[in-house]
Amino acid sequence: MRSQVLCILGAAISVAALNNGVGKLPALGYNTWNVFQCDYNETVLLAQAKSVVKHGLLKAGYEWFMLDDCYSLKNRSAKGEIIADPAKFPSGMKAFTSQLKSLGFKAGIYSDSGYKTCGGFPGSYGHEAQDLATFTSWGFTYLKYDNCYIPFDNITQENVYGRYERMRAAIEEAASTKPRSSAPPMQLALCEWGWQQPWIWASRLGQSWRSTGDIRPWWSALASIINSASFIASHTNFYGRTDLDMLEVGNVGGIGTPSGNLTFDEAKTHFTAWALLKSPLLIGTDLTQATAETVAILGNEDILRINQDPNVGEALAPFRWGGNAADWTFDARRPASYWTGNSSYGVVFMAINSEDEVKEMAFNLTESWAVRAGRVYEVYDLWSHTRNGTVAREVKVTVPAHGVSALLLSDKGPEKAGMEPYCAGWWQCTWANGTYYSN
Ligand code: GAL
Repeated sequence: MRSQVLCILGAAISVAALNNGVGKLPALGYNTWNVFQCDYNETVLLAQAKSVVKHGLLKAGYEWFMLDDCYSLKNRSAKGEIIADPAKFPSGMKAFTSQLKSLGFKAGIYSDSGYKTCGGFPGSYGHEAQDLATFTSWGFTYLKYDNCYIPFDNITQENVYGRYERMRAAIEEAASTKPRSSAPPMQLALCEWGWQQPWIWASRLGQSWRSTGDIRPWWSALASIINSASFIASHTNFYGRTDLDMLEVGNVGGIGTPSGNLTFDEAKTHFTAWALLKSPLLIGTDLTQATAETVAILGNEDILRINQDPNVGEALAPFRWGGNAADWTFDARRPASYWTGNSSYGVVFMAINSEDEVKEMAFNLTESWAVRAGRVYEVYDLWSHTRNGTVAREVKVTVPAHGVSALLLSDKGPEKAGMEPYCAGWWQCTWANGTYYSN
C-alpha cells in the first residue's frame, strides 16, 4: 500500500514544473561566452559589469552576471574541489562575486553534466554536491549546466535526463539541509542543445533549457533558431523557459568571438524574437565598445517589460507561417512570419521578414486568438515607441530585409456597425433569427 501511494505521489510530482521560488521570469543578464570565450580575467569582466551599469542596463533589468566556461584550473584539488584559476581571478572567486554584488548584480557560473566542460575543464559528473557547495560558497546562485564529455551509457545507465537530474537532486538536498543556507536555491539552466526535446521534461529539473546548438552572430544562424523555436513556442511559461541562446546583439566590426555581421535590422529582429518568445536574455557583447544602437536595442524597455511580464508567462507563437512556406513547414532560412500572444499591456504581434528585400506584410487582427473580433484597436509600435492610430481588421506594415515589426494593440471599443463580413470565420455565421449569413 505504502509503495502504491509513493508511486502515485511520484507520478504526480514528475509532471509538475519545478517551482522552488526562483526563476519565475526569464533571466536577464550578461554572459561571458559570446564575446570572450576563454580569454578573460576579473579586471576585464568587472569592466563589463560596470558598463552594464553605465549604460542603464542593470536598471533595465539585466541583473545577472554570468561566468561561462574556462574559469578554473584543469585539475581538481587533492580533495576533489574545483579550483578557480588564480591567473584569471587573482583576488579569488569570492572577492569577484562580492564586487559584482556591490555593483548590484547576482552571480552565475557554469559547469557540465559530464567529466569535463566543453573547454576541457573539470565537469561535475560524480561531483555534483561537492561542486554545488563550491559554487554556493563562492557566492553564485545560478548554474548553466552543459553537456560535453559525457560518460558511457553503461556507466550512467540513465539518459540525458538522468545526468541532469543528479544536479537537480543535489540542489534539492542542499536547499533542504538544516540550517538552510541564506542563499536561495541554485537556479539551473540546462544546456543540452535540444538533443532530447528538453522543452518536454526540463521544467521538472531547472528553470531553462537550450533548444539548439550554439548561436552565431549572423542572420542564417538567427533564422534557424527562430525556425526551431516556432514549433515549440507553447512549451514555455513561468519557471521554465526555452533558452534561445545568448544574445549576439552588438557583435559586429570585430567584436565577439567569432565577430559577426548583423545589420541593425537583424539585431532588432534577434532581440525582439528572443524577448517575445520569453527566452532568457543574456548580453554577449563587449559593452565597453558598444554603439548607441546596441545599447538602444538591449535597453528597449517596451520589449523588456513584455519579456518580464509578471502575469502572462506564455510566449508569442506563430499564427501564420507566411512567406513562401506553408504553415508548419520547417525552413531554417524562412521561419514563421506572423506571431501573436497576449500580455498584461495588450495584444502583441510580431511580423518577421526573412526575405533579403523589404516587404509589405499584412494580417487581419482576428487571426490572433488574443484579439476580440468586432472591436477596434489602437496600435503602439514597440520600436518607434509611437501610437500609430486605431485599426479595424487589417494591419499592414512595411518591414525591411531581415527586419521586424512589433506591435502592441489595445482595445478601443466596438467596430463601426455594418462592417462585413459579419464574422471573422466564415462558417456558422448566423443572423439572430437563426438563418445562416454564411455556409
Ligand atoms: C557549449 C555551449 C556554449 C558555451 C560553450 C562553452 O556547449 O553551448 O553556450 O557554454 O559550450 O565551452
